[in-house]
Amino acid sequence: MRASHSFRAALLAAGVAIPALACNVACAAGDETPASAFIVTAQQTWQGVSGSFRDAVPRVDRAGNALMLIETRRDRIDLLARHVHATEHRCGGFFAFASRAEAETFLASDRAQDVYAREPRGGYTIDNPATVQPWLAQVSEPNIRATITHLESYHTRHYASPTGSEAAGWIRDTWLALANGRSDVSASLFTNCNDCGNQPSVILTIEGTTWPSEVVVLGGHLDSINWDASGNSSARAPGADDDASGIATLTEILRVAMDSGFRPQRTVKFMAYAAEEVGLNGSQAIVSSFQADSVNVVGVLQLDMTNYRAPGQADIEIITDYTNAGLNSYIGTLFDAYLQPLGRTRSSSPCGYGCSDHASWTAAGYPSAFAFEGGGINHSFDLIHSAFDLIQNMGNTADRSVPFAQLGLAFLGEVAKGTTASSDLIFEHGFEAD
Ligand code: BES
Ligand code: ZN
Repeated sequence: MRASHSFRAALLAAGVAIPALACNVACAAGDETPASAFIVTAQQTWQGVSGSFRDAVPRVDRAGNALMLIETRRDRIDLLARHVHATEHRCGGFFAFASRAEAETFLASDRAQDVYAREPRGGYTIDNPATVQPWLAQVSEPNIRATITHLESYHTRHYASPTGSEAAGWIRDTWLALANGRSDVSASLFTNCNDCGNQPSVILTIEGTTWPSEVVVLGGHLDSINWDASGNSSARAPGADDDASGIATLTEILRVAMDSGFRPQRTVKFMAYAAEEVGLNGSQAIVSSFQADSVNVVGVLQLDMTNYRAPGQADIEIITDYTNAGLNSYIGTLFDAYLQPLGRTRSSSPCGYGCSDHASWTAAGYPSAFAFEGGGINHSFDLIHSAFDLIQNMGNTADRSVPFAQLGLAFLGEVAKGTTASSDLIFEHGFEAD
């Protein structure tokens, strides 16, 4: 067996995703010693090649996704790779193992849904510093602070309270105003949710110029709750860190992007989810509707609790569970490219459960990541879900949220790609000069 096959076999045995190899169609050509491989893929992917892979049994993963377990010859893996690449315009889309037992173990794990991972065409890359770099210094702490201060001033943003609906309207109006009448930007209230009371989610959409059907999502939840008062809908619940901070960070990301005249190649959606605190209800409703409409979401970034940092902890925690491993590692490289040079630090840890809206996307197989307060859940702000979740109890500053806005801008510019007016201006000046 040639070296490339041994390498692949090692990856297979380890149960490692092989998107790069899956795209390297030359890799398995001419395999002289075909051995068995056990492939786990989505039923919809298998349907396109079912004639070529007959020894397949339907399986369901832990999240209820319909998968197929296919036994085939190892030298036929490429057939599937070519199919996924040609018809779904992506790499990966399946996991291959050397034994049935390993495939079964994988099927029983949380990672099985990774076969659904929808990447941007061309994969996750970092090659748009012309757009991202000038943004980083423009993030304004006073702007973030002002939004947190406004949002905490609602008596509560509980999903079942009048002020909770009012806050959603304010976010919609504020986001839309930042677009300053641009015809490619729209904002709507998403009300198709059974368990959200009267609270809508907010969705602002920037239409993509080149690949509008590929959608990039940045989101956080707009509701708050007071568990000291048993979740009573009329109790004071300022929710400054949880999650006015995430909404304020998203608002600042949008402001910087709009001020720069950013035009994304992919469609971008900013989301403020309703009714997260009572079971991720708003995000779940949006995800269900996107699934029903076959919306191709290629990356999700969740921001929930960005404005507190315990002494000695990193600036940003990347949450490792109920998120997409490939996207997490990409977020790490984005961080290292854009934030590490600014002296920022990162760490990673699990939440332990599906603790925020990223989990709604993950459960449906969309690639989703969650950037959280440094140190993770053991070092996060301990006044959340009380009447004391106030910016005055976080040092009266939004300094902690600044790196999150910068990471969000890096995610926006690199996953959605696209240019700003300043890059256009440089181009025009090139012609005007002398
Ligand atoms: N922002 C919190 C999640 C959180 C809290 C993460 C503390 C890490 C540390 C979120 O708004 C929340 O409270 N989520 C619920 C879970 C949900 C399924 C109702 C929770 O953690 O109880
Ligand atoms: Zn929260």
